[in-house]
Amino acid sequence: MGHDAVALPTPKISPSMLSSDFANLASEAKFMEDCGADWLHMDIMDGHFVPNLTIGEPVIKALRKHTKAFLDCHLMVTNPADYVMPFAKAGASSFTFHAEVTKDSWPELIKSIKSSGMQAGVAIKPGTPIEDIFPLVEGEDSVDMVLVMTVEPGFGGQSFMPDMMPKVKELRRRYPNLDIQVDGGLAPSTIDQAAAAGANVIVAGSAVFGAKDPAGVIKILRNSIERAQSSKIFFQ
Ligand code: DX5
Ligand code: ZN
Repeated sequence: MGHDAVALPTPKISPSMLSSDFANLASEAKFMEDCGADWLHMDIMDGHFVPNLTIGEPVIKALRKHTKAFLDCHLMVTNPADYVMPFAKAGASSFTFHAEVTKDSWPELIKSIKSSGMQAGVAIKPGTPIEDIFPLVEGEDSVDMVLVMTVEPGFGGQSFMPDMMPKVKELRRRYPNLDIQVDGGLAPSTIDQAAAAGANVIVAGSAVFGAKDPAGVIKILRNSIERAQSSKIFFQ
């Protein structure tokens, strides 16, 4: 109904570098770009918001010297506001924080992310209702992307949670142009569910890095999104 003229957002495949060989990060990044990756997903974990510790701003800064790729930074940290400037200076392209923290200061956080030249995203854990983030998409200082976690954040290689798809569907119904990212357990066997629900930004770690043919997997993921988008299933 009146949605025919709406252009759905471009499919983007964002391999999670968490599954790469961190000791060879620059060449792994180059390899992913050669395989057709649109973005590179960087999982920042602080050992507090999640029970795992990964990388921080110094690694983004080091990697930025080797690539012009869009560095899609997912901050699983308790105090994202402290990292906005350091990440912007390090060369992060986007900054996705978790809705479960900093509830009182969302508008300020989004404003500071965008004014420092990065795209802003908000992520929700499986237990967080989608309604919680509607104000962040609709507000004056709104996010560019919503990340719907399809596993509990903290580790790669977990199983996709199909019961998160109603969240994606509701987001796509409300916001036809919004970048909607899914993260956790995405693979050729699960992508069709995410694509049918309306996701267009796909994070995949183990499915891409563990494959014999990573470029082939990236292509399968992209084709699934394109097929779903051209079938117009979202607007029926
Ligand atoms: C989980 C991370 C994900 C994860 C994805 O906390 O946010 O990005 O690494 O890995 P796979 O695709 O292996 O589930
Ligand atoms: Zn992630």
